[in-house]
Amino acid sequence: MHILLIGSGGREHALAKAIKESPGTGALYCTPGNPGIFQLAEKARLNPDDFQAVKEFCKNYQIGMVVVGPEQPLADGIADYLAGNGIAVFGPSQKAARLESSKGFAKEFMRKYSIPTAEYMTFPDADIKLAHDYLDSRELPVVIKADGLAAGKGVIIAETAEAAHEALDDMFGGKFGEAGNTVVIEDFMQGEEASILAISDGTDFVTLASSQDHKRAFDGDEGPNTGGMGAYAPAPVVTGDIIKEVHSEVIKPAIDGMANEGSPFIGCLYAGLMIKDGGVKVVEFNVRFGDPETQAVLAVFRGDFAGLLYSAAIGKLDKSKVVSKSEGSACAVVLASSGYPGSYGKGHKITGIEDAEEGGAIVYQAGTGIGDNGIVTAGGRVLAVTGVGRSLKQSIDNAYAAVDKISFNNKYFRKDIGSKGLK
Ligand code: GLY
Repeated sequence: MHILLIGSGGREHALAKAIKESPGTGALYCTPGNPGIFQLAEKARLNPDDFQAVKEFCKNYQIGMVVVGPEQPLADGIADYLAGNGIAVFGPSQKAARLESSKGFAKEFMRKYSIPTAEYMTFPDADIKLAHDYLDSRELPVVIKADGLAAGKGVIIAETAEAAHEALDDMFGGKFGEAGNTVVIEDFMQGEEASILAISDGTDFVTLASSQDHKRAFDGDEGPNTGGMGAYAPAPVVTGDIIKEVHSEVIKPAIDGMANEGSPFIGCLYAGLMIKDGGVKVVEFNVRFGDPETQAVLAVFRGDFAGLLYSAAIGKLDKSKVVSKSEGSACAVVLASSGYPGSYGKGHKITGIEDAEEGGAIVYQAGTGIGDNGIVTAGGRVLAVTGVGRSLKQSIDNAYAAVDKISFNNKYFRKDIGSKGLK
C-alpha cells in the first residue's frame, strides 16, 4: 500500500521509519517533511493545508492511507474531508480532535465520563471578573490553560497569586490569540508524569509502550516549558497495575465516551497522566502521537506498524499487528538550539549523524534543513538522538554516547533524560 504522511518533525521521522519498515508498505510520501524523513520517503509536492490538493495527490498516486502527524490539520478537519472522499485516514475527525483543540471540552468530557482529573472551571472572556475570583479561591500552584491550540505554549503553572492573575490577563488579552478567548483554571496535580499512546479504531484500542517526557528546558526539571527535551520508553513508573487502571479508568471510558458522543475516536489517543500513590489522573488528552515520546516508543515497538494504523483507520483494529510493545528500552535525547524555547540561531552545520548511527543510535531529525554543505540546524528542537538497549540504563548510555558524536554550534541538551526511570 502507498502511504502519505503529513508532518515535518522528529515524531514524523519516527513514524516514517516505522511505516517504511512495515511489510505491506509500498511507496511512502511525506509533506512538508524534513531532510531526515526524505531519506525514507519521497517528497509530496503539495501544501498539506490545501485539503483538495491532498485529495488529488491521493487519487493520482493511489494512496491507500494518509497518516496525519500534527494536531492542527486534524483540528481543521482533514480527516473528515479525506474520509468523505473515500480515502482511509489515520487520525481523528474534527469533532473527536476537540479532545485536544478545546481544553474546556476535554475537561467537561472527563467530568461527564468520570475520567479522573483535577478540579477545574472554564471561563469565557466575558467572565473575566468571575475567573479572577475563582483564582483567588484556589490553592497554589494553579494551572491556567488557553482553551484552544497554542503550539504547546498555552499552559501556565502559576506559583504565586500575582503570576496567576497576570497569566489570566495575558490570555484574555490575546497573548495566545483566539485560543485564549476561553480559559480553563485547573488545580495543580502533584506526582510523576507519564504518557500513554493508544491506537483506536473508534471502538477498540491497543496501547503502545508507556513513556515519560521531559518538558522543562534544563536538568532537574528546571527552566521554561518546551515541546519536550527527551523521552524514554517504557517508563517503570507505569507498573502493570497502573496500566490496568489506565485501560479501565482512562482509555476505555474515553473511547466509549467519544463513540457515545457520536464522534468515534479513530487515531492515536495520547493520555498525559499524573501518577501518585498508585493512582492515576489525566493531565491532558492529545489526539496524535507525542513528540518526543514517539521517538522512544517506536524504537521499542515490534510488529507491523503501518498495518496496525490501517486496521484502525478502516475500523477493524488488528491487535495481532503488535508483536511486542517494548522490546528492550529506548531513550531519546533532544538536541536543541541554544535559546530554545525562546529565540535561537539557525543554519549551523551538523556533523556526526552517520557516526552516531553507525554506533547503533537512531537519529531522528526535527528542525533541520539543507545548507550548502549538508544538513544544518533549522529549528529549536533539531534532533532526537535515540539509544536502544536491553535495559533503560543501557539505552541511556547508548543515547548519550551518540549525542557526544554529534556537533553543531549552539547545541544544547539535558543530561538527565531517563534518570527518573532509574530510581
Ligand atoms: N510531548 C508532549 C506532546 O507531544 O504534547
